[in-house]
Amino acid sequence: LMIEKGNHRHFMAKEIHEQPTVVAQTLGHYLDMANETVHLPGDVTIDFARLERISIAACGTAYYAGLIAKYWFERYARLPVEIDVASEFRYREAPLGDNGLTIVISQSGETADTLASLRYARDEDQSVLAVVNVATSTIARESDAVMPTLAGPEIGVASTKAFTCQLATLCAIAVAAGRARGTVSAEEERALVGALTEVPRLMNEALGLSDEIETLARTFAKTRDVLYLGRGTSYPLALEGALKLKEISYIHAEGYAAGELKHGPIALIDENMPVVVIAPHDAVFDKTMSNMQEVAARGGRIVLITDASGAKQAALPTEATLVMPDMHPAITPLVYALPIQLLAYHTAVHMGTDVDQPRNLAKSVTVE
Ligand code: G6P
Repeated sequence: LMIEKGNHRHFMAKEIHEQPTVVAQTLGHYLDMANETVHLPGDVTIDFARLERISIAACGTAYYAGLIAKYWFERYARLPVEIDVASEFRYREAPLGDNGLTIVISQSGETADTLASLRYARDEDQSVLAVVNVATSTIARESDAVMPTLAGPEIGVASTKAFTCQLATLCAIAVAAGRARGTVSAEEERALVGALTEVPRLMNEALGLSDEIETLARTFAKTRDVLYLGRGTSYPLALEGALKLKEISYIHAEGYAAGELKHGPIALIDENMPVVVIAPHDAVFDKTMSNMQEVAARGGRIVLITDASGAKQAALPTEATLVMPDMHPAITPLVYALPIQLLAYHTAVHMGTDVDQPRNLAKSVTVE
C-alpha cells in the first residue's frame, strides 16, 4: 500500500488536515446520527450497568487520550477511573477488583508495555476493551472487544489523527456507558451526539488558523522552553501539546494543570518563555484566567487559545490569542487539539527538523 503526501510537505501536515474526514468516519461508526444516539457495534457486549470501575493503560499520546476519557467516564457514566502509563501499570500489581473493565488504547496495537498491561488485566479477570487503529494488531486480537479508530494508516511518528479518532471513540463509549447506567438521559445523549456530530465542521474552522499559527511559530522556533497550561480536559491537552512540541521541534516543553502553576513552574516565568494557555470558555475558565493573570504579572509571554467570549473576558495583554469557534464543552479537546498540533508542526518546520521522522523516536515501540 503506497501512501502519498498529496499537496502536503509532510505526512504530519497531511494527517492533521485529514482529521475532519477521519473523525467523521470514526463517529459514523459509533453514532446513529439520524436518531442522535450512540450505537456501539454488536460485538461490543460490555454490561456497563454492572461495571464498578474502569482502568486505562496506554503510552504516549494514546495515554493522554485516556486521561481525557477519564474526565468523560467520571462525568457522564459516574464510573471511577484509574489510569496509568502502561510501563507503570504492568508492574504495579494494582488490585483491579470485581466487575472491572480495562481499556487499552493504542494506535499501532503493538506497543509492548500496553500489550503487557492488557495481559495483566486479563489475568486479574478484567474485561478488556481495545481502542486501536490497526484492527489486525496483537492488542486487538487479545482483547475481549475491539473498537477501531478509523484514522487510516498514520505515517508521521508524532501521532495526530489517531489521537482525535481515539477521543471520538472514547467519548462515544462514555456516552453509551452513561446511557446504560442511567446517568445520561435520552435528552443529554441527543445533545452530546449532536455536539460530536459538529466536530468535523469545527475542525475545519480550526484548520483555518493555520497561517496565523505559522506566523506565531516563528517566535517559538527561537525559544528554549515552552509551558502549556489547562484545566479539566484542557489539562491532558496541555500535556499533549508539550509532548507534540518536544517530539518534533526538540524544544523543551512541559504541560501543567493550571492550578499547579504556583507549586513550581511559576518560578520559570520570565519574558522569554512562552506560556500556552488552553482555555475554552467553560466552567473552569475563570480559574484558568486567574492563573493567566499570575503569568502576566510576571511579564510572561502568553499565547491564549480560547473562543470569542473567552477572548473578550480575558482582558489581558497576550502575545497572541487564537480564537476558536464556539462549541459544546464536552468536545473541546477534539477541536482544540488541532491548533496545538499545528503550533508544534509549524515550529518544527521553521527549525528545519525532520518532522515525520524525529530523531531517536519510533512510530511503534515493540520493545520495553
Ligand atoms: C510511540 C509513538 C507515539 C505513540 C506511542 C504509543 O512513542 O512515537 O506517537 O503515541 O508510541 O504508541 P501506540 O501505537 O501504542 O499508540
